[in-house]
Amino acid sequence: MLRNITLHITEDYAAMGRKAAEIFAGAVKESPAGVFGFATGSTPEGLYKELAKMHATGTRFDGITTFNLDEYHPIQPGNTQSYHYYMKERVFGPLGIKNTHVPDGEATDPLAECARYEARLTAAGEMAMQILGIGHNGHIGFNEPGEAFARLASYVPLTPSTIEANARLFEDPAMVPRHALTIGIHAIMMAKRILLLASGAGKADILARALQGPITPQVPASILQLHPCVTVVADQAAAAGL
Ligand code: F6R
Repeated sequence: MLRNITLHITEDYAAMGRKAAEIFAGAVKESPAGVFGFATGSTPEGLYKELAKMHATGTRFDGITTFNLDEYHPIQPGNTQSYHYYMKERVFGPLGIKNTHVPDGEATDPLAECARYEARLTAAGEMAMQILGIGHNGHIGFNEPGEAFARLASYVPLTPSTIEANARLFEDPAMVPRHALTIGIHAIMMAKRILLLASGAGKADILARALQGPITPQVPASILQLHPCVTVVADQAAAAGL
């Protein structure tokens, strides 16, 4: 394992959430008014539950500013599958965070929305910590495998494998949006620290390729090998290939 990567292997998903919460809360303690990057999806749900418990017993998160990695397009914020809704229910409400940013899934001009979001991110200053999950195909945010690393925020078509992976969350698979707005690799790489989470046997192969394989835009998460400070929290099943 590269020296810039600190690896914590936990027994199971619940322990992954607890370990990640301890690390995240530590970063917030160091930067109580800092900028923090959030991911959605199944993987960080355990982390968010743990943070909500910490908040209930007095830990404060309300001074931070948040930026989410991505949002489907088109999608209304009230749609229960939108990342706006996910964040409101699991993070912003339970942790009492008010200064939040999520790309606008209803933007009529998605390219202009990408430029606006990128500008807001840049103006906010250095991100203290970026939480990441990893897609089965190695995507981070919705930066899908491709010919080059997408530098800036972009409006992207989702790959068939991502649409299939996310269909489990929609009542009707045909309703999975075909596009998303995502921050780019540049903003992710500019974060002071990365907290990458992975859970389950289905992520074992891609996690090993991301952390130990060649750095290639075919595996977008492999760029993290070039980041100076990455903490990986993976349960045993996801860490099996490392
Ligand atoms: C979501 C995101 C995605 C997910 C990835 C893994 O905001 O950025 O990159 O982290 O698709 O999703 P789960 O955790 O559902 O396996």
